[in-house]
Amino acid sequence: MKKTIIALLACVAFAGTAMAAPDVIEMKRGVKFDHKAHQAAAGECTKCHATAAGGKIEGFGKAWAHEKCKGCHADMKKGPTSCKECHK
Ligand code: HEC
Ligand code: HEC
Ligand code: HEC
Repeated sequence: MKKTIIALLACVAFAGTAMAAPDVIEMKRGVKFDHKAHQAAAGECTKCHATAAGGKIEGFGKAWAHEKCKGCHADMKKGPTSCKECHK
């Protein structure tokens, strides 16, 4: 029983490292996305991710970003909506 629990804990710890979200993600054209700040500012992982576990976003790129990133900033009246504020 004890061994099973230890094995389970090891799995959880490993999964934690494997899926650890980066603090800041460097994107194309000079966009620096502060993932850590967004986790706090946006509230829920599912505002951007399909599930609360996060991970790669399918189809991530220009269209996704201009719709979702800019869209949320406009809705919340917080965060950049002009080209140069995101593309440095
Ligand atoms: C404001 C949007 C947003 C929020 C909120 C957010 N994320 Fe992310 N996250 C992203 C973007 C964008 C990426 C980069 C995706 C890509 O390159 O496919 C990412 C990447 C990740 C990655 C790394 C994926 C990889 O393998 O490179 C993990 C893990 C992750 N997020 C987990 C989370 C978790 C857990 C939460 C909630 C606590 C969360 N995210 C909240 C936007 C967000
Ligand atoms: C669900 C809402 C939401 C989404 C989606 C979102 N943001 Fe934001 N973003 C915010 C909020 C809220 C702030 C303001 C945070 C503050 O002022 O405390 C912000 C601030 C920023 C800032 C300025 C502050 C900083 O972190 O440097 C940048 C740049 C930014 N966002 C880029 C992005 C990019 C790029 C994406 C898409 C990959 C994105 N955001 C998606 C809500 C969002
Ligand atoms: C809220 C932040 C934000 C704003 C505002 C924004 N962009 Fe972007 N843009 C991004 C992100 C994030 C990507 C995708 C980066 C990636 O795929 O790594 C992107 C992608 C692009 C690309 C494609 C880059 C490539 O090599 O694939 C172009 C071109 C672009 N943006 C131009 C613009 C222009 C022009 C404006 C103003 C009209 C603008 N963007 C406004 C965040 C933003």
